[in-house]
Amino acid sequence: MKPSSKPNSLRTIKSYVRRSGRITDSQRKAWNNYWPCYGIDIENDPNRLVELFKDTKKRVVLEIGFGDGDNLIATAINETSSNVIGIEVYRSGIGHCLINAKKNNLKNLKIICFDAVEVLNQHIPNNSIDTVNIFFPDPWPKKRHRKRRLISETFVLLLKSKLTNHGLVHICTDWPDYNEDIRKLFKHIKNFKPVENIPERTQTKYEKKAMALEHVIYESAYRLVL
Ligand SMILES: C[S@@+](CC[C@H](N)C(=O)[O-])C[C@H]1O[C@@H](n2cnc3c(N)ncnc32)[C@H](O)[C@@H]1O
Repeated sequence: MKPSSKPNSLRTIKSYVRRSGRITDSQRKAWNNYWPCYGIDIENDPNRLVELFKDTKKRVVLEIGFGDGDNLIATAINETSSNVIGIEVYRSGIGHCLINAKKNNLKNLKIICFDAVEVLNQHIPNNSIDTVNIFFPDPWPKKRHRKRRLISETFVLLLKSKLTNHGLVHICTDWPDYNEDIRKLFKHIKNFKPVENIPERTQTKYEKKAMALEHVIYESAYRLVL
């Protein structure tokens, strides 16, 4: 084995590619000025995240892959008594979100720039999250890329371990076969019940593009009932 190659147990397929998309001046300024307030540097200062779970009376809402963060910001505005956490790896999107977090003077929002799977596995306590929102996970439409899709059996089992009893997972996709796989996974994994009255949410940037292409939007929510 070459010194740099990882053993199999550590080799993971990522559900994202790091987009090098242009970061605007205002987004760069937001990173410099507002990241210290809203950001959690999970590798060097994971205790900031641990703090959020100490007040067990507060609901915790997690959004994975929030993009530009329009729904994340709306959640933090509407649920002032919840701790709202967003995880994203897209720096320009995080910059956009930081600008809006500051504009709205949010006090209940924290942002993590890291792989959500690793954060869940290593830093989020079991039975601690009340709602997980995953809106338009990367569809990876090519067959040979399907293994990169975020929502897999292993991932749903991971979510199950992190959710509180009666916790909710809310998902949207515009990709019919991904929707079908998600539906089957939540049916197959014990203790998830489909929810009829799906909570309201804010339209996302990806969704607007999908609708402009006349894609059907598939939306589902599942409650963990132990
Ligand atoms: C198709 S975009 C949708 C963004 C946003 N939710 C929307 O609807 O506009 C999917 C996003 O998920 C993020 N993402 C994918 N895998 C992730 C992971 N493992 N951890 C954190 N973010 C991830 C990507 O960076 C990307 O911004």
